[in-house]
Amino acid sequence: MEHEPVLRKDVQNFLALSIGMTVVDATLGLGGHSKDILESVGESGKLIAFDQDERNLEEARKRLKKFEKQTEFVHDNFRNLKTRITELGITEIDAILFDLGLSSPHVDEPERGFSFMKEGPLDMRFDQRQKLTASDVINSYSEDDLARIFKEYGEERMAGKIARRLVERRNKNPFTKTTELADAIEAMYPKKHTSKKSRSHPATQIFQAIRMEVNQEVEVLREALSQAFDLLKIGGRIVVISYHSVEDRIVKRFFQDLIRPEPTEERALYQIYGDPLVEKITKKPVIPSEEEISENPRARSAKMRIYKKIKSN
Ligand SMILES: C[S@@+](CC[C@H](N)C(=O)[O-])C[C@H]1O[C@@H](n2cnc3c(N)ncnc32)[C@H](O)[C@@H]1O
Repeated sequence: MEHEPVLRKDVQNFLALSIGMTVVDATLGLGGHSKDILESVGESGKLIAFDQDERNLEEARKRLKKFEKQTEFVHDNFRNLKTRITELGITEIDAILFDLGLSSPHVDEPERGFSFMKEGPLDMRFDQRQKLTASDVINSYSEDDLARIFKEYGEERMAGKIARRLVERRNKNPFTKTTELADAIEAMYPKKHTSKKSRSHPATQIFQAIRMEVNQEVEVLREALSQAFDLLKIGGRIVVISYHSVEDRIVKRFFQDLIRPEPTEERALYQIYGDPLVEKITKKPVIPSEEEISENPRARSAKMRIYKKIKSN
């Protein structure tokens, strides 16, 4: 299984690593970025690598075998970052990477239920120990909840209509397969689907929304960013790669609040904001080159934001 991590060189440059550092990879995946991190921090450095997907974690563990002394593999959600890192006796970290979302095996293996192109069960769980699946969401959530999820997480302009039609359809015949759901959504669109997103399949947004609900991605990301900030040393870097606008907005807003912290109570009257706690390293997000996108189409929507902690709160 060949695998080239997204924005590989940029990630390594912007993490600003050196020998002996303690670094967290919150989204190990198949270990592409982790391998580079391990090489940069050397034998005296340390990597703590999280993934909630056991199969990816085990595959990465094999690939990173030669670095096993420097690596702690943690099979957990990154929402438990602080607890799990503290348990290891680590109180501060030098840098942290989040490369969010799906990995190649999630999309390539139909049985995981993430892909609308290949027939599979309606699953979409990153962590197989979890109970809630895509089937539960699509077959048992209320029409209002589905519409809200499609709008908020999928930015779907026909959210209400799609929710209503899906509920009508499931009342007769519950959805069991990814392709059934994708076909039902496609059939709701006018033949010439001419929105801005017309290059993608009409089910893209709905699948994204269901996946985000199944894995509680919005809440989890906010919690994890806050814990990452707490753990980071002054001067330490946080690098986040997101793959769609809902995710990117969460990242941008989270850090915007740290760049311009709300006035404290006694300063509120005069609208005096607190001192910045982080600094933006690049004005605009870093995106892959045309060349990278042509070699790896999955990189096409990637946006990387980089911040440096300058003060504790
Ligand atoms: C885009 S892939 C990472 C690819 C990796 N950087 C590499 O180079 O191979 C994202 C990975 O993060 C994992 N993941 C997503 N959300 C997570 C979460 N909340 N906690 C832990 N792992 C998560 C997924 O299971 C997936 O393996």
